[in-house]
Amino acid sequence: MQPILRDFLDKWVYPTGFSGAGVEFRLRQTERCLPLWDRLVAQAIQFAQNDLKSGSDEYKAVRARAGYAAEGPFMSLKQMSTQILSVEINEQPEYIDLQRMRARQIWDEVKHGQLHADVLLRGRFIKREEELMNDPRANTQPKLSYFGMTAMFPHIHPLARAGQHYYNESMACLGIAATLSVIDDCLVRHQLRSQEAEEMMHFMEGKYQIDAYALTPKDQKPIEEVFDFLLRPWAPEPSRALGGSQ
Ligand SMILES: [Fe+2]
Repeated sequence: MQPILRDFLDKWVYPTGFSGAGVEFRLRQTERCLPLWDRLVAQAIQFAQNDLKSGSDEYKAVRARAGYAAEGPFMSLKQMSTQILSVEINEQPEYIDLQRMRARQIWDEVKHGQLHADVLLRGRFIKREEELMNDPRANTQPKLSYFGMTAMFPHIHPLARAGQHYYNESMACLGIAATLSVIDDCLVRHQLRSQEAEEMMHFMEGKYQIDAYALTPKDQKPIEEVFDFLLRPWAPEPSRALGGSQ
């Protein structure tokens, strides 16, 4: 197992303030995620090494455009509104802490889009952020999406999102850690450092939702279905900006 994954598991996955059915369910799902998390770390290290070997600064723009496509303001608002709307008005007393964390994530994701734009501006790849509106590379993702553009998986249950938070946001954390272990460019590091604590927050939200709320088979089912979806071979991995391949 990659040391970066081992460290993440020891620090963030296995310690828990809860006990019981939710934790047991989460640990079963964790076993399913481990091979893909491990592969992602190895791949992110490899891509970062290739970027350094390229002999050009273009990789910084490639990463930033991919990040903007995944996390720019337009994309972020679409992504995040779907998860807010999965809690109906009469369910809010039960899930109000989830709603608060999700409201915070809207801010986080829009900020991440701005961080990617900032790399492109400071690296002098563009003069104004508006230029990105005309660049398909900053507005499209080459893979099926759990949410957002294609909304492949509807947020039909307030807890469904926990599967995405747990599986994908952990990969954002791992991809960032792997990239930081290789690339010492200050522009790339500033961007990733400014983003990493928030990706951790999104992962921990998934962990908390499962441990605290997924206590019965009825509440576990919609989350397990999301894991089933995300663990398919064409499952979304993080964008190129966070260690993914594209
Ligand atoms: Fe993000």
